[in-house]
Amino acid sequence: MSNPWEIDRQCFPTTGSPAEQLKFITRYALLAPSTHNTQPWKFIIQHDELKLYADRSRQLTEADPSGRELVMSCGAALGQLRVALQHFGLDPEVSLLPDSNEPDWLARVKISPSNVYDDQLLPLFDGIFKRHTSRTAFASTAVPQQVIDKITDLAGRLGVGVAFISDADQQQQLARLVAEGDQLLFKNKNFRLELRRWLRGKDSNTKDGIASRSLGLPAWLAPLAAYIIQKLDVGDMVARNDAQLVLTAPLLVILHTPENQPMDWLLAGQALDWMLLFAAANRINASFFSQPLEAPGLLSRFNEIVQISGQPQLFFRLGYAVDAKPSARRDVDTVVSME
Ligand SMILES: Cc1cc2nc3c(=O)[nH]c(=O)nc-3n(C[C@H](O)[C@H](O)[C@H](O)COP(=O)(O)O)c2cc1C
Repeated sequence: MSNPWEIDRQCFPTTGSPAEQLKFITRYALLAPSTHNTQPWKFIIQHDELKLYADRSRQLTEADPSGRELVMSCGAALGQLRVALQHFGLDPEVSLLPDSNEPDWLARVKISPSNVYDDQLLPLFDGIFKRHTSRTAFASTAVPQQVIDKITDLAGRLGVGVAFISDADQQQQLARLVAEGDQLLFKNKNFRLELRRWLRGKDSNTKDGIASRSLGLPAWLAPLAAYIIQKLDVGDMVARNDAQLVLTAPLLVILHTPENQPMDWLLAGQALDWMLLFAAANRINASFFSQPLEAPGLLSRFNEIVQISGQPQLFFRLGYAVDAKPSARRDVDTVVSME
């Protein structure tokens, strides 16, 4: 089976049916980021319409009991699908959460050929192949102001707010909170077990999960990571590492929404994807710190530090790093069905 990251855009079925075209383009959506690389999505294609569903069997019941990160991950896939549709000249009509009786049906996307191009989305296509979560230290080089302005605009289109942390005192407090989050989460044996379930060793041929090598561990430790994480409380070690990454991050970003409902999560996921694609197209990397939003009791302290209006949904850093390797993806035929 071919590598999901190697899609030849010349193979787009220009004269194919809308369903064939949709299936081809969905391959780009599968490259979106997702929590623990769970890829918690399913797609059903019928003629010129695509339905996106949440796959609850892939939910992180310990780290994400409400399914907030699951829905944001699906939102990211939807954001990426919209960018790819634009690239191939198809105009998507998107409805979010189209049926209140079916909460796992997250979006309906109907396509028609178009001559109207979305100038904001077109340049993001280039970022699809360059975007990989990079968990190593970033250079101290500042992220250019025009990138900051652009990603703020992209999120604003979806009604998603963006806050940037530039105050050194806030940055230190956040580093301490992330470290505390690591310690709390790693004390929970079930959290460790869940993380271990999604960690993949060098020889793994599963097409999901986080490669141990991408965690920024010393090379000699990476092969043992899954075993160690399950058996030992390595919270202190992870905490020190993450705190340092927060402290030295050139730019810390928070995405926030007015409410904390599935609609907000879907929009935040799309906004995240567009921001990361724009960053990646400009060779800027990202990595996430979900601990303060996941660990019990830390959210209110996070809010006190960052002082934003609304609900924080994602906390991540942007900066320049050595490019990370692509992570595994499931094959298109596993997640897309044609009706
Ligand atoms: C909603 C969401 C939350 C995430 N939280 C974290 C996190 O807390 N820590 C982390 O290292 N990566 C986090 N990630 C990144 C995923 O682990 C990553 O996207 C996935 O492993 C696929 O790898 P890729 O982004 O390199 O394609 C998150 C991604 C999403 C979409």
